[in-house]
Amino acid sequence: MKLFLIGMMGSGKSHWCKELSKKLKCGGYDLDFLIETSEEKTIAEIFAEDGEEYFRKTEAKVLRWFAEKKIFVLATGGGTPCFHENMQWMNKNGKTIWIDETIEVLVERLKPEKDHRPLIKNLSDDELKDFLSKKLEERKQYYSQSAIHLQGKDINLKTILQFVRSEM
Ligand code: S3P
Repeated sequence: MKLFLIGMMGSGKSHWCKELSKKLKCGGYDLDFLIETSEEKTIAEIFAEDGEEYFRKTEAKVLRWFAEKKIFVLATGGGTPCFHENMQWMNKNGKTIWIDETIEVLVERLKPEKDHRPLIKNLSDDELKDFLSKKLEERKQYYSQSAIHLQGKDINLKTILQFVRSEM
């Protein structure tokens, strides 16, 4: 079982990664955390000091550490599927699950969290909504390639597990 959780920032990928890995008794990993550990910098510092292009290269490199791993759940970053053919790679190397929360939910969750998120840290609450709507539109072409697509009431542990098991 190799599960890649994808979706917008604030969609709950890290939360569902913890829940799923606990239930499936396998390793649960967070791509941003692995990048921070390997670079010995926070994501915000990498964006500020090295730029987004460097971050995206590092993200693609760290993602590919999972080529050899057999059983895991990985929470990816919101932009992971959209760069360096990562979506294609994840679909070849495991099952992708798109956690697709509404813009309203994302805005409420991200409002108090802007400071350590480089892409949204300078936005007002109104700008945040516009930014997320535009990003989601841009990213849908990648997210929609996922093997499993979960929305609204389907985003709960029982349903996620049912989908995962039906795909095995
Ligand atoms: C990003 C999302 C972040 C992180 C980086 C870029 C994005 O991850 O990788 O700030 O492009 O949407 P989360 O989705 O875990 O917040």
